[in-house]
Amino acid sequence: EKGNFRHFMAKEMHEQPEVVAHTLAHYIDMANETVQLPADLPFDFARLERVSIAACGTAYYAGIIAKYWFERYARLPVEIDVASEFRYREAPLPENGLMVVISQSGETADTLASLRYARAEGQHVMAVVNVPTSTIAREADVVMPTLAGPEIGVASTKAFTCQLATLAAVAVAAGRARGVLSAEDERALVHALVEVPRLMNEALKLGPETETLSRSFSRVRDVLYLGRGTSYPLALEGALKLKEISYIHAEGYAAGELKHGPIALIDENMPVVVIAPHDSVFDKTMSNMQEVAARGGRIVLITDKTGAEQASLETEATLVLPDMDPAIAPLVYAIPVQLLAYHTAVQMGTDVDQPRNLAKSVTVE
Ligand code: F6R
Repeated sequence: EKGNFRHFMAKEMHEQPEVVAHTLAHYIDMANETVQLPADLPFDFARLERVSIAACGTAYYAGIIAKYWFERYARLPVEIDVASEFRYREAPLPENGLMVVISQSGETADTLASLRYARAEGQHVMAVVNVPTSTIAREADVVMPTLAGPEIGVASTKAFTCQLATLAAVAVAAGRARGVLSAEDERALVHALVEVPRLMNEALKLGPETETLSRSFSRVRDVLYLGRGTSYPLALEGALKLKEISYIHAEGYAAGELKHGPIALIDENMPVVVIAPHDSVFDKTMSNMQEVAARGGRIVLITDKTGAEQASLETEATLVLPDMDPAIAPLVYAIPVQLLAYHTAVQMGTDVDQPRNLAKSVTVE
């Protein structure tokens, strides 16, 4: 049931503080301020050679964010590919490797095929899935449930942020097992994770501002999303969300790639959404934003209080979130990105929950 909401997507976006809290409670031992994975692992993180990740669409973007986390917090090398490529490219996989597949439905054909390929190549297989009775859940060695509850809207929202919450916990557990994170580091990351539901509630307050912005977005042909670090996969996610429900063409780019091509697109008609929490790469992203401004581009900046104070450029709009630990920023920044796509689609009058040509679960290639 949609309750007071016009669409399942709206309901599911607004459920995120609650469902993410629920997911975190499953992975965090609050009393000890540690991560506690809910299942015994059939492998040892300390002995892993490499992690391979395969997934599709939004789940793939969650995987890219997880790659940054595994590398930073566990010093584990990660390779990631979309499942439709991974399954056929006959990648050589290491002796002691872990395959992580990520899927809301647990039935996506290419993701399942990637799991089977990895298993045949002797990998340990971990599934991060939302549907516990799914084929992918059944065939994995170990399942990390995302516990988002049923997701009805075709555009993934709460499944994505619950995937991130789960993957963050797994990365912290890996970092501890590999001796990369001290008890103190782990406590700090747990503290940051526990703050997420409250910060998500703050982010949801951007509804009216994103709605206002959607009026100008509904009149454009193309939108460019830029981000660095973990904001880069969020730029990809923002573009996917906008195109799938509003049918406006959008592209996500790593901010540093701007001058390698997409800068040619910049004019006074195309909005450029810059996702830039005040983190270690903030200044770099600001200089890319400067390049957009210098060419008369229309900038929508999504940042935090500190970032908004430091960004001196004029923007069409600045969406301001509270300051937060950069480690958990992707979970919170997902919300304005979703809200913007949602309100633009409503403005366009499209079928938000059931966009044309799309299926909730892609069980054929
Ligand atoms: C985008 C979206 C799709 C799915 C993709 C994978 O909003 O929903 O891109 O993320 O089809 O689906 P699952 O996670 O079920 O494997």
